[in-house]
Amino acid sequence: MNTNIYYKSIFGSTKKYANWLQITTGANLFKLNKIDTKNIDAADNIILMSGTYAGQMPLIKTLVSNWNNLKDKNVIVIAVGAAAASDKQSEISYELIPAEIRKNIKYFKLPGQTLNQVKNCVKKDNILPIISILEEK
Ligand SMILES: Cc1cc2nc3c(=O)[nH]c(=O)nc-3n(C[C@H](O)[C@H](O)[C@H](O)COP(=O)(O)O)c2cc1C
Repeated sequence: MNTNIYYKSIFGSTKKYANWLQITTGANLFKLNKIDTKNIDAADNIILMSGTYAGQMPLIKTLVSNWNNLKDKNVIVIAVGAAAASDKQSEISYELIPAEIRKNIKYFKLPGQTLNQVKNCVKKDNILPIISILEEK
């Protein structure tokens, strides 16, 4: 199974997760703005990932504008952020993804770095649920 990862990271946490996923699965790694029909076509699994900034996830614009080419793939969306997955704030960000698309993706919120970082929340084990999904296929 071919997997392509497209990521955008400003402060480095999403990049760390993207690199760990790439090393563990042998996926192809691209910057989010490098997505195009040619490299989507050959992939079975597509992972789109970005940090969350003031509620916005840059990956959403890419997801929506490429949805016609992505809709028949196994699409995994990963938001990285300081707010816990269960926070209302994270739910609001998730709901910025159009409902039709939400029904057809697998979504994860992974811990990113916080401003006054006391402990490091960006851990390799956080990607294990995503690895499991890729191994199911
Ligand atoms: C200006 C700013 C706004 C942020 N807003 C959010 C937010 O709305 N929700 C959230 O979960 N995390 C938020 N964060 C935390 C970032 O998502 C976190 O630092 C993450 O690691 C960013 O991804 P990156 O390191 O790949 O750039 C914010 C961080 C900054 C600096």
